[in-house]
Amino acid sequence: MTRPRETDDVTGIETTGHEWDGIKELDNPLPRWWVNIFYACILGAIVFWVLYPSWPIWNGQEWTFVRGVIGTTPRDDVEKALARQAAQRARWQEQINKTPLAGIVKDPELLEFAIAGGKAAFGDNCAPCHGTGAQGGPGFPNLNDDEWLWGGTLDDIHQTITHGIRWESDPETRMSIMQGYLKDQILSREEVSDVVQYVLNFTGRASDPQAVERGAKTFADICSACHGADGKGNKYVGAPDLTNDIWLYGGDPETIFETVANGRAGQMPAWIERLDPATIKELAIYVHSLGGGLPGEETAAAE
Ligand code: HEC
Ligand code: HEC
Repeated sequence: MTRPRETDDVTGIETTGHEWDGIKELDNPLPRWWVNIFYACILGAIVFWVLYPSWPIWNGQEWTFVRGVIGTTPRDDVEKALARQAAQRARWQEQINKTPLAGIVKDPELLEFAIAGGKAAFGDNCAPCHGTGAQGGPGFPNLNDDEWLWGGTLDDIHQTITHGIRWESDPETRMSIMQGYLKDQILSREEVSDVVQYVLNFTGRASDPQAVERGAKTFADICSACHGADGKGNKYVGAPDLTNDIWLYGGDPETIFETVANGRAGQMPAWIERLDPATIKELAIYVHSLGGGLPGEETAAAE
C-alpha cells in the first residue's frame, strides 16, 4: 500500500510511503560501503570491456566482435595450448616410433609417456572386451596376471596386439584352432565326458576315477599335441595351461564339456589394421606393465 511520504516521529527520517500491516519503511540512504562496491563493479566492467572482447560488431560481411586491447580470447588461449600439446605429443610419438621396445622401457621419461598413452588407447579400444581394468571375463583373458596364452614378454604381447588372434585378414595372425571334438564327430559324447574328467583331475576335481583313466588315452592321443602331455599348455599355439585354476572360458565340468565338445576359437582383431605403430607400441608397454613382471626384468629375459 502506498501512502504519502511523511516524517517518522522517532528517528526524524522521512518514510518511503510504503506501509505493510502498520510497518512503515524508512527512506535510509544505502550504506557507503555498498555504494562504493557498486561503483567499483561498474568501473571494473568498463575496464573489462576495454581489455577483453565485448561488443558485437558488423564488419561488412558478418557479425564479429571487438577484440579488446589484450587482443586474445579465452578460446584463442585454449587453441594455442592444444596446439602446443599436439606438437609435444608428436615429438614424443616420433621418439616412440624410432626407439625399440626394449629401449623405451629403459628410458624412464619415455616409459612414463608410453604407459600413459597406452592406458588411454586401452580405454578406447580394448576395454569393451578386456574390461576397463584389463581384468577380462569369460572368453576374454585377464591381462593383469602372469598367465599368458601367447606369451607375456614385451615382444610376444606386441606381436599379439599387432596381428591379432585368429584374425584371418592378417597373414601373421596368431593361429591355432582347437576343434569341437563332439561337433566335428572326432569323439563320442562318452569320450568327451571322459576326457573332461581327465582335465578336471589336473585340479583335483575329478568325480569318476574310471573315467579319468579312460580319458587319459584320448588326452595323450589328441589333446597333448597342443596342451602338452602334462597339460601345462603351449604358448606357441595359444593353448592354455589346464593344470592351474585360471580359466579362460570357465573351469566347471559343464563349461569344460562345452569347450571340448564345440571348440571356442576366440578371436582378437589385428590392431595394425586400425591403430598406428606408435600407439601399438604404447599399448604393448602398458599391457606388459600390468602383468608380466617389471620392465627391467622382462627386457632382460626377452633379449
Ligand atoms: C573384440 C574383442 C577384443 C578386443 C576389442 C580386444 N581383444 Fe584382446 N583378446 C580378445 C580375445 C578373445 C583374446 C583371446 C583369444 C584366444 O587366444 O583365445 C584376446 C587376447 C589378447 C591378448 C593375449 C593374452 C594372452 O594371454 O596371451 C592380448 C595381449 C590382448 N588381447 C590385448 C588387447 C589389446 C591391447 C586390445 C586393444 C587394442 C585388445 N586386446 C582388444 C578379444 C579382444
Ligand atoms: C590344435 C591345438 C589344440 C588341441 C589339439 C586341443 N586344444 Fe584345447 N585349446 C587350444 C586353444 C588354442 C585353446 C584356447 C581357447 C580358444 O580356442 O579360444 C584351448 C582351450 C581349451 C580349454 C579351455 C581352457 C580355459 O581356460 O577355459 C580346454 C578345457 C581345453 N582346451 C581342453 C582340450 C582337450 C580336452 C583337448 C583334447 C580333446 C584339447 N583341448 C585339444 C588348443 C588345442
